[in-house]
Amino acid sequence: MNFFTYLLHLAGSGAGAYIGASQIRDPLTRPNVLAGFQLAESGSVPFLQALSDRAAAEGDTWLAEKLARHASDEKRHGQIFAQALKRLNKQVIDFKKAAEAKPEGKPDERRRSPFFEAYFEGYSQESLKPQNIDWVVFMASTYILELDASKDFVRMANVLPEDEPNSASLKKGLLSIAHDETGHAAYLLEALKRRLPDAAVEEMVDAWRTRKVNALLAMVTNLMQKSGQIPSLVQDGVPTEMSEEAELAVA
Ligand SMILES: [Fe+2]
Ligand SMILES: [Fe+2]
Repeated sequence: MNFFTYLLHLAGSGAGAYIGASQIRDPLTRPNVLAGFQLAESGSVPFLQALSDRAAAEGDTWLAEKLARHASDEKRHGQIFAQALKRLNKQVIDFKKAAEAKPEGKPDERRRSPFFEAYFEGYSQESLKPQNIDWVVFMASTYILELDASKDFVRMANVLPEDEPNSASLKKGLLSIAHDETGHAAYLLEALKRRLPDAAVEEMVDAWRTRKVNALLAMVTNLMQKSGQIPSLVQDGVPTEMSEEAELAVA
């Protein structure tokens, strides 16, 4: 990573943490932030599970076990965010219904992520599927995201007050999530080191750090073009199928 990229990274994570922290503290924006996290965390579970199965099929038991644990952690993270939304009497929108209700021909902005388009620039959708993805690409790209997430979740937890029950509960949840993300970053780096010499690991990590910086810039540019309007991901009410398990996850 060159020095300019490094400075941009610091500025980018500072800005991201500021936006994340102020949006989670503000009762008006908090539900949407929580919904975004719930979708991201729960959405990663089938991908990680499929990767775990693939690692097992390829005879890498160490990696298969790490990935299975990773999948179950992310499932728990999704439940923590769902639970936090439930406490605010909100839930993630029903994407099927939203798609039926929207006018024909209008692309659904909620599903397109300028961040991920830029982060994986040059990789086809097909090459990023769990059965195809290059192991080193998966490990390095995910390592950067997990490492940054662990720090961002702590920053967000730190701005939440402890004297209000919903905030205090979310704060506890965020800190436990941050702890898991640190563990994910650690095993991914270890996984890279099991496959590549140290110099090559450093090169890969640098390359994905640079991609993250560029992707953040792409995301910020896109947000500014939409004049700061973030599409809504939540609706009122508590899902009926919400399990007791999720209640326990944050207890
Ligand atoms: Fe997570
Ligand atoms: Fe994670």
